[in-house]
Amino acid sequence: MQKLSVLIVAILFVSATVALAVPAKKTIEFNESPMGSVTFDGTIHKEAGIKCKECHNSGMFPKMKQGTVKITMEEIYAGNLCGVCHNGQRAFDAKSNCARCHVKQ
Ligand code: HEC
Ligand code: HEC
Ligand code: HEC
Repeated sequence: MQKLSVLIVAILFVSATVALAVPAKKTIEFNESPMGSVTFDGTIHKEAGIKCKECHNSGMFPKMKQGTVKITMEEIYAGNLCGVCHNGQRAFDAKSNCARCHVKQ
């Protein structure tokens, strides 16, 4: 019985660390733009106090998997996807800060 609860605690601990390890420490690269690649940094967004569901919901990025949503500037400028926040209110405005996202190699 005690062995079982130790095991359960161990499993809970491991799954909690995995869940936290995904966005923090994790970066996603978007390399398809002629403006230069964009690095999405999970740690920066987590430290800004943003919850998973604020991005992983049916209207934005439903799947926790890279490449499922096509990101365009048209969508961002229209206030969708990254543009839900990157509009000069919650976070820096996409229209006047290309180089804070796009880095030419
Ligand atoms: C908040 C981050 C962010 C900012 C700021 C930003 N972009 Fe983007 N942009 C992206 C992402 C993410 C993609 C998708 C890239 C991919 O799929 O590889 C993208 C794609 C693009 C593309 C290719 C797709 C399309 O819509 O034509 C162009 C061109 C582009 N950006 C230009 C710009 C310019 C010009 C600016 C500044 C006026 C800008 N971006 C500012 C994140 C940003
Ligand atoms: C600020 C927005 C944002 C937040 C907050 C966020 N994510 Fe994501 N996440 C994304 C985007 C964008 C993608 C790529 C989706 C796509 O390309 O379709 C992604 C992808 C992922 C992936 C797949 C990575 C890969 O390599 O394929 C996982 C796993 C993930 N997120 C987990 C989480 C978890 C867990 C949280 C909360 C602790 C979280 N995310 C918070 C925006 C966010
Ligand atoms: C839920 C709100 C939210 C969404 C959605 C969001 N961001 Fe952010 N992002 C922030 C906040 C807040 C910061 C911290 C910087 C600030 O306050 O402007 C930030 C910072 C960044 C930075 C760091 C830039 C720097 O100079 O420090 C990059 C790059 C970035 N975001 C790209 C993206 C991309 C690409 C997407 C879409 C895939 C995205 N963000 C979606 C809120 C968001």
